Amino acid sequence: MKKLLDLISEEVTKAFVECGYDEKYGRVTLSNRPDLCEYQCNGAMAAAKEYKCAPFMISDKIAELLSGNEMFSMVESVKPGFLNLKIDDAYLAKYMNDMQADEGRFGCSKVENPKTIMIDYGGPNVAKPLHVGHLRSAIIGESVKRIGKFVGHEMIGDVHLGDWGLQMGLIITELKLRKPELVYFDEAYEGEYPEEAPFTIAELEEIYPTASGKSKEDEAYKEAALAATNELQQGRRGYRALLAHILNVSVTDLKKNYEKLNVDFELWKGESDAQPYIPDMVAKLKDGGFAYESEGALVVDVAEETDTKEIPPCIILKSDGASLYSTTDLATLVMRMEDYNPESIIYITDKRQELHFKQVFRCAKKTGIVKPETELTHIGFGTMNGKDGKPFKTRDGGVMRLEYLLEEIYEEMLKKILENQKTKENLDISMEEAQDTARKIALAAIKYGDLSNQASKDYIFDIERFTSFEGNTGPYILYTIVRIKSILGKYEATGKSIADCLGAMEAAHNEHEKDLMLVLSRFNAVVENAYEESAPHKICAYIYELANAFNGFYHGTKILSEENEAAQKAYIGLLCLTKSVLETCIDMLGFEAPERM
Ligand code: ARG
Repeated sequence: MKKLLDLISEEVTKAFVECGYDEKYGRVTLSNRPDLCEYQCNGAMAAAKEYKCAPFMISDKIAELLSGNEMFSMVESVKPGFLNLKIDDAYLAKYMNDMQADEGRFGCSKVENPKTIMIDYGGPNVAKPLHVGHLRSAIIGESVKRIGKFVGHEMIGDVHLGDWGLQMGLIITELKLRKPELVYFDEAYEGEYPEEAPFTIAELEEIYPTASGKSKEDEAYKEAALAATNELQQGRRGYRALLAHILNVSVTDLKKNYEKLNVDFELWKGESDAQPYIPDMVAKLKDGGFAYESEGALVVDVAEETDTKEIPPCIILKSDGASLYSTTDLATLVMRMEDYNPESIIYITDKRQELHFKQVFRCAKKTGIVKPETELTHIGFGTMNGKDGKPFKTRDGGVMRLEYLLEEIYEEMLKKILENQKTKENLDISMEEAQDTARKIALAAIKYGDLSNQASKDYIFDIERFTSFEGNTGPYILYTIVRIKSILGKYEATGKSIADCLGAMEAAHNEHEKDLMLVLSRFNAVVENAYEESAPHKICAYIYELANAFNGFYHGTKILSEENEAAQKAYIGLLCLTKSVLETCIDMLGFEAPERM
């Protein structure tokens, strides 16, 4: 469906052209004086310069031509030369009914030329527990992916595990110390390795920090870990088999955690998958004359003349021949181009990695690893801070593990629901439902709390505020949806059919109703814009506005006691549309609403 604003612009543009002015002056925008009008066109102000007359002479003519046009209930020419517009109520109701009939899309058409877009997010490091630092990447990435999918692109999410660094060597070293008898350490062994891992996830999570601690104090231990890392990377069989176990055990655990977050990935590739592509890539970079030796390391210059800051060369191999984070990312690009040939790749990490991605992107473009037209984008997010303004920590100052954070908020929500129950009529909520509801609200609180901020900004993770049922919060949005569900349930309980109300919207009966319709009408434009700017916060701002408009309507209108049947049907139809749009939006944000709360 066309955007309402475009339909209006077309109509006004036609009027400009009919009056002999250039079509470029007919652009209409949302009003910035909602007290005076709903839309405005300032084209006459600009046109006056070209046609050398007073602006109002133009705006007067346009207003006269448009008066009586069925699209508008008001077209006013206001000195010095503005056009103030209000949309006709019946026209708007028709647009609402069209949105409702456009099932699943609600007026938001799919793109005509879908792109293949890869999105690299999550980025957990294997064997280390997920912590809140990884929370933002997962939450933002999942939403950006869902928005892209909704718009119609093929989105391929890749978790890109950190599974290739020193942490692997550390684990192997510690394991060897504890269980030297394991067959993985016997270099003479040529048979098959056991299928079962020689450790559990709990052990693995304890082994890593222990090993990491020891390596900081014990030089010999660190040497051993580095050597093990190197041997692993050179392909030592037993170590490769251990790596496979570590991966398996971690990935099982990670999947469980991501599932709790309603986050899922199309691909579970990792840094280790890119390693086979390195030798060939390095050879090509050398042959192409891109890579040269500098202080022993192999580098590619990526500085550009227009740089205002110095951009250091991209290091491909260290002086000892070891590969780095950038090497892996470049090789991953080689792999991705080969496997999926995407038109665009989006990376979601902490904004402190900005320089890294700038170097990698430039290097990939310059050396032809990606095509000139391949879009490479880094979305760098800010830090999640505690109320003290410092990076979020547990109460005792440690790094907060993600599952504990979720659990803590869940417990709080459950308590709230059970308390609420005592004071409310829905006493019949089972424990099971209460738990399920608490999980949904907790997730909405966390995700909305994060996504409602522009990604690049730091924000304060304020559990109290995020879990409030009032204000700009996830729970408030859920509460609004639940309120609509409850009204619809009561309507049905009177024996009337909701299906009969679909498409039954009428010219607004009051100003709150019209406000709600106006907000609903912007759904397609908002989604398109959120996609273009990879900006879930725009969806959040929109649903907050929509929820407020709905609640304004709800408080200002008697719905269930309305006696005029047609009007009541129109209200119920509008409720259904509001609910659908809200649900579609929260699905793009990656959470869902319970039945009641
Ligand atoms: N594992 C990395 C980290 O924890 C994030 C990976 C991001 N993706 C990438 N292709 N570099 O910082």
